[in-house]
Amino acid sequence: MSLADVIASDRPLRVAVLTGAGISAESGLRTFRGNDGLWEGHRIEEVATPEAWEIDPQNVWRFYQQRRRQLSEVDPNPAHFALAELEDGVEDGCFTLITQNVDDLHERGGSRNLIHMHGELRVVRCEECAHNFEAMGAEHLADDEFIPCPECGHEKVRPDIVWFGEEPYQMDDLMQAVIDCELFLVVGTSGHVHPAAGLLGLARMRGAYCVGFNLDPPLNVGYFHEFHEGAAGELLPPLVQQLIELDIQP
Ligand code: APR
Repeated sequence: MSLADVIASDRPLRVAVLTGAGISAESGLRTFRGNDGLWEGHRIEEVATPEAWEIDPQNVWRFYQQRRRQLSEVDPNPAHFALAELEDGVEDGCFTLITQNVDDLHERGGSRNLIHMHGELRVVRCEECAHNFEAMGAEHLADDEFIPCPECGHEKVRPDIVWFGEEPYQMDDLMQAVIDCELFLVVGTSGHVHPAAGLLGLARMRGAYCVGFNLDPPLNVGYFHEFHEGAAGELLPPLVQQLIELDIQP
């Protein structure tokens, strides 16, 4: 079975894509598991756990405020645009993009049916009343000022990010998309963090043709039918052109 066979035999072709930090690396955002094991100079447990927020909310808030401000300094790269083009190329309702990334580069690249399974930097959430809202105005981005909840008045909202030990968002929807798809693409993720890393095995078990793109082989590389080693911004645009030429339309 090859990619061309999958496309020839399945009509309409349903596509699911899982992306990770590697797809945003060429836009200038650091990945999580750099050689130093640190994320922007921090140990992940110091900034990305509910315990860290409990013990030292100032430190966690400052870290995420930097990440939130950084969004205005970066732009989508050719890999983000290629996935939007792929979405435009398949039949409506047949494409789901699942991202572990909390940046907004997929939506700015033109992707529409998008699941942010680990939350979004643009959004904050009240732990008292669960109210969540987009908070990207200048008044929301200072390092040392917490944002109070406009609904219940609680003194500080938290970043709407799924931290280690918390359950990712929209698990039912994204698992259904993985179960239903005939083609599953995985881009720029090391395969270390579950449940996201387990989606590849699920797709494979349910019969999808699985193709991976990463700078180096991820932990779960054995599940791919095809693995392409290299930068997402270089590999994805020609792959999408190839799919469009193979006529992914019904
Ligand atoms: N193109 C493709 N892959 C790349 C590129 C690139 N230009 N640059 C880096 N990579 C690869 C790295 O080799 C690495 O394997 O992207 C992968 C990124 O892996 P991680 O840093 O572990 O990121 P990710 O898999 O998204 O992490 C998952 O962990 O910290 C949590 O919640 C956080 O969503 C995150 C989750």
